[in-house]
Amino acid sequence: MNREQTQHIPVMLDAVMEYLRPTPGGHYIDGTLGGGGHTSELLRLSAPDGCVLGIDTDSRAQERVKARLREEIAQGRLVLSHGNFADMERLAREANFTGVEGILLDLGFSSDQMDDPQRGFAFSADGPLDMRLNQDLAINATDIVNSASEEELADIFWRYGEERRSRLIARRIVREREKQAITHTGQLASIAAAGVPYKHGAIHPATRVFQALRIAVNQELERLEAVLPQMLALLQAGGKQGRLAIISFHSLEDRIVKAFLKREATDCICPPRMPVCVCGHKASLRILTSKPVFPTEQEIASNPRARSARLRAAQVLTE
Ligand SMILES: C[S@@+](CC[C@H](N)C(=O)[O-])C[C@H]1O[C@@H](n2cnc3c(N)ncnc32)[C@H](O)[C@@H]1O
Repeated sequence: MNREQTQHIPVMLDAVMEYLRPTPGGHYIDGTLGGGGHTSELLRLSAPDGCVLGIDTDSRAQERVKARLREEIAQGRLVLSHGNFADMERLAREANFTGVEGILLDLGFSSDQMDDPQRGFAFSADGPLDMRLNQDLAINATDIVNSASEEELADIFWRYGEERRSRLIARRIVREREKQAITHTGQLASIAAAGVPYKHGAIHPATRVFQALRIAVNQELERLEAVLPQMLALLQAGGKQGRLAIISFHSLEDRIVKAFLKREATDCICPPRMPVCVCGHKASLRILTSKPVFPTEQEIASNPRARSARLRAAQVLTE
């Protein structure tokens, strides 16, 4: 594949733009640049002078977008930032995006990462068991699989994969790694799937174990928890009733997003037993999606990777 090309098809593109409503001259942050699909649309809809800050923790995603959107970069309309969205306020400040009108998170990993066996996200093709979104991270999936205790592994599979066979799989891993180190995706996939019948087209029995390890390696839930208040602060600083849109791909992420939006869209958050409000909390957001928005059947048919996506959006309230 040519290094300028991306295989990633942006998920729920129209719905995201309907909620973010980019306008000419607006400033936007794409916290998960990936293949640049959503960023390109933000740039198109905010032309001629709208600006986007595109953040990604994966330097290869940056390189790919840098080559493809060089004109927008030269015009100063697209600024790329290599970093973690958990540091969004700092990255935005460094790029002079102090207040913005819209922020997008399209969580997880891209098709470019998934389809590269060397990155270790997929079990369909064998490759090193890596799973780091940011290749500068010190610990990868091989390290965890070969050094965590049986209890720790079971806990990872249960908490981050909601895997019912977590203990059994952890036990098998420990037994297997005593014979030889587990260093490849194919090895892990066959351990995780052993004894479970797999019908072609169904979810692969190793899916939850892979998801859990990826979340653990990249500390995905902690990063998500960290970015949400920063998104709110950046939109408030923009002073224009800015909007946020978040696409998640599993219930653990969605639960965090839903709880944050609910809390920030509520005035008093005192426990129900309190006779009067003592928290003084004031709603700062209006939820735009009372329920999560799902991709259409048509989108899922043309892009099966969209099937578990769900979108939530909210708008900042001004005083
Ligand atoms: C689903 S893809 C985004 C695809 C993009 N919206 C597009 O249309 O091409 C997710 C991207 O977010 C990046 N990412 C995931 N977690 C991140 C984090 N905590 N900080 C920065 N980037 C992150 C991944 O490296 C990946 O490139």
